[in-house]
This record gives sequence, C-alpha cells and structure tokens, in this order.
Amino acid sequence: MSLKLRKLSYALGAEVCDIDVTRVSEASFGEIYRAFLEHGILLFRNQNISREQHIEFSRRFGELDRHDALPRDRHPDYPEILLVTNEPKPDGSPSDSRYTGRQWHSDMSFTTVPSLGSLLRGITIPEVGGDTVFANMYLAYETLSDGMKALIADLHGIHLSGTRKINNEESGSTRAEEQKKLNPPIAQPLVRVHPETGRKALYLGDKVKRFDGLTEEESRPLIQYLNEHATRFEFIYRHQWRANDIVAWDIRCTMHLALGDFDETQRRHMERTTVLGTPSGYVVASA
Ligand code: SIN
Repeated sequence: MSLKLRKLSYALGAEVCDIDVTRVSEASFGEIYRAFLEHGILLFRNQNISREQHIEFSRRFGELDRHDALPRDRHPDYPEILLVTNEPKPDGSPSDSRYTGRQWHSDMSFTTVPSLGSLLRGITIPEVGGDTVFANMYLAYETLSDGMKALIADLHGIHLSGTRKINNEESGSTRAEEQKKLNPPIAQPLVRVHPETGRKALYLGDKVKRFDGLTEEESRPLIQYLNEHATRFEFIYRHQWRANDIVAWDIRCTMHLALGDFDETQRRHMERTTVLGTPSGYVVASA
C-alpha cells in the first residue's frame, strides 16, 4: 500500500489520509516513519481510539517515556499518557497541566533524555482556537548566515523546566518548586544533528534564558534573535484541532507552542504520549 499524503504547510507537516492507526501493517508503518522523518509532523484525522490503542500505536515509534519528570501531569492509571487539560481535578481544584506548552519548546529538553517525538490526541476541543503551532528547526538553522552558524556552533543553551504562566501564579508555585527540584537546569547544544537524517537543526525555545558560560544579559539578544528567526511565518504550521485528531511530531527538528487562543471557560482536553530519544545534554550547577 502506498501512503496517501497531503502537505499541511510549505514549511512542514503532512496529513496521512484514509488510515486507521489501529490497523497498520509493518510495511505501511515503514512508510509512515519515513514520512515522519521527511515532514517533521504527521496528522491522522478521525482516530476515535482508546488509551490502550494510543499507547500501542505510539510504541511503534519507539520506547515510551513514563513521564517521571512530570509526575503531576501523567494519567494516574497510564503513566505513558501525559494529560494536557483544563478539566478541574476530582476535588474541583484547577488542573496542573492547564498551561502546558504555552511557550515555544521541545518536549523534555530539560532532561538528559530529550524525546524523539510526541503523539498528541485531541479529545475535547474548544469551539474555536486552542491551536498548536509548530516550527521547522532545520529551516531555522539552514537559513542563518555562515557567520552566524560559525558563531553559534559550540554554544549550549540552558533549558529550564516549568511554564512561565504557572511559575507566576500563587497556586502553581508548589508545582513549580517540585519541578525545579526534580529537573535541574540542563545544557543542550544550540545546534543539534538529527540522529537519523543527519541534518542540523536549531535547538532553542523559551525555556532557554542563557547560554552556558555567558550571563543572561549577554545571552538575551542572541536568544531573542534566534527565537524570532525560527518562528517566522514561513517556517511554521498552525494546527487547528478537531476531536479525534492525532498529531505526531519529530522533536529533534521542530519546536512547538500551545496557543491560549480560546475561551478558557470551555474545555480543552488532550492526551500525549512521548517517545524516548537518545541521551543529550549535561546538568549545570545554576540556571
Ligand atoms: C505540548 O506541548 O505537548 C502540548 C501542546 C498542546 O497542548 O497543544
């Protein structure tokens, strides 16, 4: 069978059409994985599947993270599933993950085993908005001048865990403190080589406040420039969710942002599996 693909944007992404992810042969999965490497993001629409089936399909991409770095956000019965939801907890208090992803980031970059990819399933979607935006970090790197490429070649960005919005909220401070204890600051190369395609990609985002060996003041202008460059409209795809969408992204060449562009009195409930990547980065003494 040959895969029916429809490009999602100029920069990245393709929809895999007419497919049921619970019935994919070995050969078809080989094609899916090649498309994943080529397009960076794959969209599978109309996948009304169970949690077990979500986990099973995700395992075909590799071993799954049990989310020990984000214990509050994992599903109590399915550690392979990370909740991204604004549904209140059973005791009525706000969900810990209601602001997950509201900064440009690459999943688990604040650990020494950053992910290979994630598969996010849209379950309850607001009437309008709640979109996710993805940036192609190969293009971000490849379109820099040779001078800039030489300047940044050996830099390491220090990635911090936590979300800005929760860090700034009284109710989120316990979670933020826990997160910091569990996940010390990690320096990751600013330019990474994709282990399967061999292409170079920029590795940055809003979790980075400085480069190892430089102060925040010294780092800020370069971080700002590179993040703005990486998120130019030409390099992004904005996904408008429908219930039962699954979006799989290759974390080694993309970054993404969950937009808060929706009425927060409406429910947005997403469930994510995260595929383990290869070890990268080192712990630094201070952020
Ligand atoms: C994430 O960062 O994994 C969540 C993205 C989203 O909720 O749109």
